[in-house]
Amino acid sequence: MRTLQFLLIVFFFSFFSMAQIPSSLNLMPVPAKVQVGAGQLVVDQAFTAVSTGHRDDRLERGISRFLDQVSRQTGMTLNGQPADASNATLVIHAENAGRKVQELDEDESYALEITPSRATLTAATALGALYGLQTFLQLIEPTPAGFAVPVITIQDRPRFAWRGLLIDASRHFIPIEVLKRNLDGMAAVKMNVLHWHLSDDEGFRVESKRFPKLHELGSEGQYYTQAEIRDFVAYARDRGIRVVPEFDMPGHSRSWMAGYPELASVPGSYRAGRIADADTVMDPTRDGTYKFLDKFVGEMAALFPDAYFHIGGDEVNNKPWDSNPKIQEFIRAHGMKNNRDLQAYFNQRLQKIVQKHGKIMMGWDEVLHPDLPKTVLVESWRGQDSLAEAAKQGHLGLLSYGYYLDLMWPAARHYAVDPMAMTTTGGAAALTAEEKKRILGGEACMWSEFVTPETIDSRIWPRLAAIAERLWSPQEVRDNQSMYRRLEEVSWRLGWLGLNHESNYPLLLQRLAGSHDIGALRVLADVVEPTKDYTRTEVFPQPPVKSTPLNRMADAARPESTVTRQFSELVDGYFQSDYKDSAAEAQIRASLVNWRDNDVNLQPVLDRSFLLTEDKPLSTDLAALAAAGLEALDSIDKNQPLPDAWRAAQLAVVDRSMKPRANLLVMVAPPIQKLIAATAASH
Ligand code: ACM
Repeated sequence: MRTLQFLLIVFFFSFFSMAQIPSSLNLMPVPAKVQVGAGQLVVDQAFTAVSTGHRDDRLERGISRFLDQVSRQTGMTLNGQPADASNATLVIHAENAGRKVQELDEDESYALEITPSRATLTAATALGALYGLQTFLQLIEPTPAGFAVPVITIQDRPRFAWRGLLIDASRHFIPIEVLKRNLDGMAAVKMNVLHWHLSDDEGFRVESKRFPKLHELGSEGQYYTQAEIRDFVAYARDRGIRVVPEFDMPGHSRSWMAGYPELASVPGSYRAGRIADADTVMDPTRDGTYKFLDKFVGEMAALFPDAYFHIGGDEVNNKPWDSNPKIQEFIRAHGMKNNRDLQAYFNQRLQKIVQKHGKIMMGWDEVLHPDLPKTVLVESWRGQDSLAEAAKQGHLGLLSYGYYLDLMWPAARHYAVDPMAMTTTGGAAALTAEEKKRILGGEACMWSEFVTPETIDSRIWPRLAAIAERLWSPQEVRDNQSMYRRLEEVSWRLGWLGLNHESNYPLLLQRLAGSHDIGALRVLADVVEPTKDYTRTEVFPQPPVKSTPLNRMADAARPESTVTRQFSELVDGYFQSDYKDSAAEAQIRASLVNWRDNDVNLQPVLDRSFLLTEDKPLSTDLAALAAAGLEALDSIDKNQPLPDAWRAAQLAVVDRSMKPRANLLVMVAPPIQKLIAATAASH
């Protein structure tokens, strides 16, 4: 009876509804079901892993990478002999290999059972087993008894089948090795689609054997060879990641016209590059355009094995169509009303071509039109309503709106965006069950106007892990505090995959300062963030973007300031305690003193480097903000309100700090403003 009682209690206290993952676990994304037991399985140098299921080369390579990663994470070589299943530490059993080309409807589930003596990972497919191995890696922690994983039972499967990341390789070319390490990061957080934005106005990035002038004249020599692409696709497949190519058309296509100006709607000569208000659009009225695209899509369809083929379709500039009388005549002669109808005509013809070459067409939400074939998958980037609308009309859909990493939003803001959410006009939550099934998931987008191979990791990570969780974990997993706690733990672990989002930060600051000593510079850099949304204007849109150095503080600063978030939480906690939490107050004071006194040390550093001169006013204002915060804290502490005029004087600094300067915002201004506001009345 006692045993039964004990078991019941253990069950009750250890079976977590995954809305509250135990704080002892650093799992991200949160699994569908977790049951934590007592005890642990030691991971020492005798650790072995062996598969017993369907023999599969991909899984064997996955296990081999897993063992390498265990070594890397623990700093130990593993001496265990390849074991048979009867004495291996981790036994992996996958029922089958999964499809030859990874598909949307594959079973991605796995179950992981860890006891004090061994671990068992079972999955329907090798794909599921690969995810289970990632979970195991996230469970390894140092303990007093050595590295270990907890006794635990996990049953896991994703909420959405499509969990993607778009990387724009056109605006800035991103070398294969950078992409590969990001694939490793994606695999670590169970994302399964790399959407490769391969052509845009600024560059055409794929070698074409049918149309060599595409990459020869459209890429400034920066493109992927077909051999590199095959190797990359295989690398992705090994990690359970599909590669979906995007060739943006009919707009965003200036780079095509460098070699093939006959595709353009306005005759002329063209070169790749971002040229303000000179977007180039394909001519959808010429049969030659479709003959070209038929051959081109055929070549690319053979190169990229995935079932889906993204044709872009976004932001088509009307001007080239409006300015060409022949195109306007075509619109009238075919009984169309406007340019939108013309794009729909283009999409219908393109869809036939894409289908002929064995692919399913997908496009950005501008492609939605009554004439759009229902087989076309729609990717919503302009809002959540177009996702619901597409599903209503019978299209499969993906959400990207809300997941744009280039907008420099905090992780929590991305995390709050749910593809199935209720919106003010309904949204996906209001759809029928049948319509809801058409929503396949979402994709984060890393547009590269303002990222380089050097900074891209720091714009993707760690925020992408929060989006990965939104797309994998149960909908009710939405606690920001837990998310941020785990995000930080996942972040440094991603460094072991070669991602440099953390390791590059001091290097970038040292380059800015021209000095090893970045103590004072880091104090400022830690509390600023790059400006949000599409506000980065100082180097944009002057062509060509590629050669504009992105080597300022705005490029080194993190998209989200952890120091600020923690300071904000302290201030909120201090207020919630009715100003009684003296430990919080002491920490707030210490931060403010640090910021106030930093300026005198930093100004000489800022004077020394032309890259930093533009940041001088930010440092001055940080000091002023901190001084105001200290005055406010004293006022609150002594319960002696300050006059309105004092607050009004501080407000000017607060306002300035939250306006873009040097493409940066001083993020501690709002929490300091809260302290300032609290001086109005006694408490
Ligand atoms: C897009 O951001 N134009 C898809």
